Amino acid sequence: MRFCLTKGMIEISVFIRPYEARDYDRVRLICIATSDTKIRSESKRTFILKMYCDYYIESEPKNCFVAVDGGADGAEEQVVGYILCAADCESYAKNFLKNYVPKIKATGRLNGFTARSEVFLYSRYAAFFPAHLHIDVLPAYQRLGIGKMLTDTLLEHLREMKIKGVMLVVGKKNVKGRSFYYKYGFSEVGKAGPGVVFGIDL
Ligand SMILES: CC(C)(COP(=O)(O)OP(=O)(O)OC[C@H]1O[C@@H](n2cnc3c(N)ncnc32)[C@H](O)[C@@H]1OP(=O)(O)O)[C@@H](O)C(=O)NCCC(=O)NCCS
Repeated sequence: MRFCLTKGMIEISVFIRPYEARDYDRVRLICIATSDTKIRSESKRTFILKMYCDYYIESEPKNCFVAVDGGADGAEEQVVGYILCAADCESYAKNFLKNYVPKIKATGRLNGFTARSEVFLYSRYAAFFPAHLHIDVLPAYQRLGIGKMLTDTLLEHLREMKIKGVMLVVGKKNVKGRSFYYKYGFSEVGKAGPGVVFGIDL
């Protein structure tokens, strides 16, 4: 379905569709562009991509969705945001620990430790929230309702899969992210170091 959104004086047409293999580079680019961490090295870039992007689009592409700017006046369509999801914590943990953590560890021992801690964090909440998500929208497209549309789409998809809950972790200092999740109806269910854990029953 296409939605008409107003961006300043311009009306744009945005639609949500399942992730496709052709979106790979663009989704990775958005992951880096929206990261709140300063990326000063190639190893940091690899760490961010392997932690927050590659597992999802490579291992669970059917649980990922993108927001596409339909292009005005013949301009090309372009992916401007995404929501990525691991639907089942147990299979995520097995696959991520086996295939991604070693690559993350190769970027630094501390990164490897952070990756394993992330898995254990999701596992702690998996009884209530088996799924977890990551969402990012390019700055120029934020606050137009795209994040809500992406989340609606993913949650509907997870309900169809009979998943009982979805969670995420957001930095305490990420006011934008926290406001978004509160407004959407997620509840704060715990704390995790510099992060806050949000969850929603489906
Ligand atoms: C968080 C994020 C995904 C929200 O996406 P979005 O498309 O901008 O969100 P929406 O336009 O659907 O906003 C829905 C509601 O969330 C709240 N919200 C969104 N952005 C907000 C902001 N910057 N400040 C305060 N509230 C905000 C508002 O209540 C908003 O409703 P309103 O505009 O009617 O007031 C987006 O800001 C983003 O990608 N941020 C950078 C990366 C990030 O923080 N990702 C999440 C990390 S866990």
